[in-house]
Amino acid sequence: MPGNNIFPIFDKVLDRSKKEALLKQRGIVIWMTGLSGSGKTTLAIGLEKYLNDKGHLTYLLDGDNVRSGINKDLGFSEKDRVENIRRIAEIAKLFVNGGVITINSFVSPSEELRQLAKNIIGEKDFNCVYVNTPLEECEKRDTKGLYAKARKGEIKDFTGISAPFDAPLSPELEIDTHNHSYEDCLKKLIEFVEPKIKL
Ligand code: ADX
Repeated sequence: MPGNNIFPIFDKVLDRSKKEALLKQRGIVIWMTGLSGSGKTTLAIGLEKYLNDKGHLTYLLDGDNVRSGINKDLGFSEKDRVENIRRIAEIAKLFVNGGVITINSFVSPSEELRQLAKNIIGEKDFNCVYVNTPLEECEKRDTKGLYAKARKGEIKDFTGISAPFDAPLSPELEIDTHNHSYEDCLKKLIEFVEPKIKL
């Protein structure tokens, strides 16, 4: 229904199935959620490399990258996190409609945010992967030095310290990085993804 003089042509653009046939793959969204430092990005990079080596077209959308570009006007208040995830989900939807395997790596700390992404992207294309690493482990790693800053009060609303992280209730896949090697975690992720991208 056109509103404000806008007339979308979604029904007229070249069909997604034509692009998937060209790429010989099904486009899906892998939505990785977890604390900062949980290993989402490392696994996402590993997955993308593996799929690319196998001849697949992928795109990796990552929190720090997106926040240094299209979302650089947003912070970490609840309102800004909603807008962050809303825009990312809209972008992921564009990629997936182009047949691309879209790997998203965002803290996305609440059920509400992940549900928002799922609603925008569509349930059948949305695959929530929970990278489950205990806060103590993330804080011990502190690869970006952000937990130390958050503990000192130098960063406010920091997920896990001064802002909540709610574990997903029913993720399609859960990866326990604490008790398994990186190789085993990546293998589990690949085994989850491969059947889903077959045409
Ligand atoms: S989300 O909560 O809105 O989904 P997003 O994934 O985009 O977060 O960005 C998280 C990244 O921003 C973290 O990995 C970290 O490097 C950085 N960051 C900076 N400030 C914060 C903060 N207050 N809370 C969480 N992450 C932060």
